[in-house]
Amino acid sequence: MCGIVGYTGQKQAYPILIDGLKKLEYRGYDSAGVALHLGNHLAVYKKQGKVAALEAYAGDHPVAATTGIGHTRWATHGEPSDRNAHPHYSASGEIAMIHNGIIENYAQLKDELTGKGYVFNSDTDSEVLLNFIEDIKRNNECSLEEAVRVALKRVTGAYVILLIDTEYPDTIIAARKGSPLVIGVGKGEHFLGSDASPMLAYTKEVVYINDYELAIVRPDELILKNLGNERITPFVQKLDLELAAIEKGNFEHFMLKEIYEQPKTILDSLRGRLNAERGYITLSGLDRIEDKLRNAHRIVIVACGTSWHAGLIGEYLIEELCRLNVEVEYASEFRYRNPIISSQDVIIAISQSGETADTLVALENAKKQGATIFGIVNVVGSSIARITDAGAYTHAGPEIGVASTKAFTAQVAVLQLFALKLAQMRGTIDDTLFQHLLHELEAIPAKVEWILNNQVEAIQAIAHAYRDADNFLYLGRGYNFPIALEGALKLKEITYIHAEGYPAAEMKHGPIALVDEELPVVFVATKDVYHEKIVSNIQEINARKGNVVAVVSEGDETVNDLAKAVMVVPQAHEIVAPLLSVVPLQLLAYYIGVERGLDVDKPRNLAKSVTVE
Ligand code: F6R
Repeated sequence: MCGIVGYTGQKQAYPILIDGLKKLEYRGYDSAGVALHLGNHLAVYKKQGKVAALEAYAGDHPVAATTGIGHTRWATHGEPSDRNAHPHYSASGEIAMIHNGIIENYAQLKDELTGKGYVFNSDTDSEVLLNFIEDIKRNNECSLEEAVRVALKRVTGAYVILLIDTEYPDTIIAARKGSPLVIGVGKGEHFLGSDASPMLAYTKEVVYINDYELAIVRPDELILKNLGNERITPFVQKLDLELAAIEKGNFEHFMLKEIYEQPKTILDSLRGRLNAERGYITLSGLDRIEDKLRNAHRIVIVACGTSWHAGLIGEYLIEELCRLNVEVEYASEFRYRNPIISSQDVIIAISQSGETADTLVALENAKKQGATIFGIVNVVGSSIARITDAGAYTHAGPEIGVASTKAFTAQVAVLQLFALKLAQMRGTIDDTLFQHLLHELEAIPAKVEWILNNQVEAIQAIAHAYRDADNFLYLGRGYNFPIALEGALKLKEITYIHAEGYPAAEMKHGPIALVDEELPVVFVATKDVYHEKIVSNIQEINARKGNVVAVVSEGDETVNDLAKAVMVVPQAHEIVAPLLSVVPLQLLAYYIGVERGLDVDKPRNLAKSVTVE
């Protein structure tokens, strides 16, 4: 949440910062701003709203500078407004700072500073930290670097901060704890970002900054220190990422591009791991914790949002195939409710960004209690990936649309590999079924391609028919229940239509009261062991004049006849079928969002990568 960028070098900083902010806008778009080093003074330009509003405003002002910082905000302390937008000026106007994170003890620091006569121009915790730093610098007559170091020792919470100071014309001071920071190394220039996307057009050499590290960044120099003022050698890594991966190409939205990428991203998540022809799965991360898994009393899956839905599918898979007890936990609850964890627990952490604050802290707590952590993470080198004992990256590539799509299917594919491999290891699956499922999984990318080639028109028609609905109900059983939850979440996020996902049979215990002639009820009704039961549930809705829309397996005439409209997916074994049945629901949410004229890549109030709790 919140995107930060920085540049110091020989080029003009402003266009680089604006371009970088546009690439990071998925992290928040309540306001945007830049601070530039204009000769002997700083200029701060900031505006409520998206980066385009900032551009329109700053275009009329002087922007010639070779050092600057920029910020796109997801509001925590203080409403979205010009005054709460970053960067903030210090009281003297000599330092400007941007911040991603939350300073938890800001109220106490604010009281101290107010007592000394400081006046604040915003409601943010960030401005408090900035003035706290300036106060230390002035009172101790020390460098900005030293003042930052001293201040951060007093701070609780999470942060990435970037500061520029009139006293140090070409220098950016940066520090991190709990929020991501990447520094790109160019020739006579450095780039800073919440992720590598702002620097990808200029350099592929990057340094991932760790918690409690402080960077002094100049055009020709990158000095890294810990908060004890000891130097650390920067570890420069080469990015394995192409610019095209973070651009929209010919698609109208990132969300649509990412939905269409799924045949490839699912294949990428299976590549080098699944060999159906020879009949085996290689998952080196799982091998690394084989002993722990053999002796595990249970597996606990920890995640948030869409990743939590993938976790629910993981629970069904592992319990069915491996006969091992699995619990699925919301990270935000798990971290605070003092759960019972032992060294015989294996925790599976699922996260696209690898930076979700609740998931990260839940894992840190579990690790302290001796649990083994296996990560299913998309962003390579992210904080969650780094604290795991072992793991399997999902290899879905950068996901920029705020609503998660391709990351979800890649997570489910990796969970399927994990469950199959673990079942084989534990001797809980017979070889015929194992071999059959490997072929079923291998066939999935082509089947997703079939949906994308053959079902879009039907889905667009459904979207058009129901675009004005006030509520939706999504129902499914077994593996399709988490898909119903995910379909409902996608709809809420993208279209702002209220939607609920429910186990289809549970519907009779309450939600059926919602059914009337207006209500669209989306059944995820692909062919599986529950099929007859879900057909009965559809009839129950029809009897009450609800509008049944169904995701059905190809050739299913029964549901086809009962539903007002269908979205067809190819037949598949129920264990792999969620990878198919979710795709029409992603498209349905997308096209309803488009029908309603909404910015589906930037839904209101949301941000990708929830780095605050
Ligand atoms: C929904 C969505 C969120 C994320 C959740 C966890 O479309 O994207 O619900 O799934 O914030 O994020 P990660 O997976 O990055 O930990």
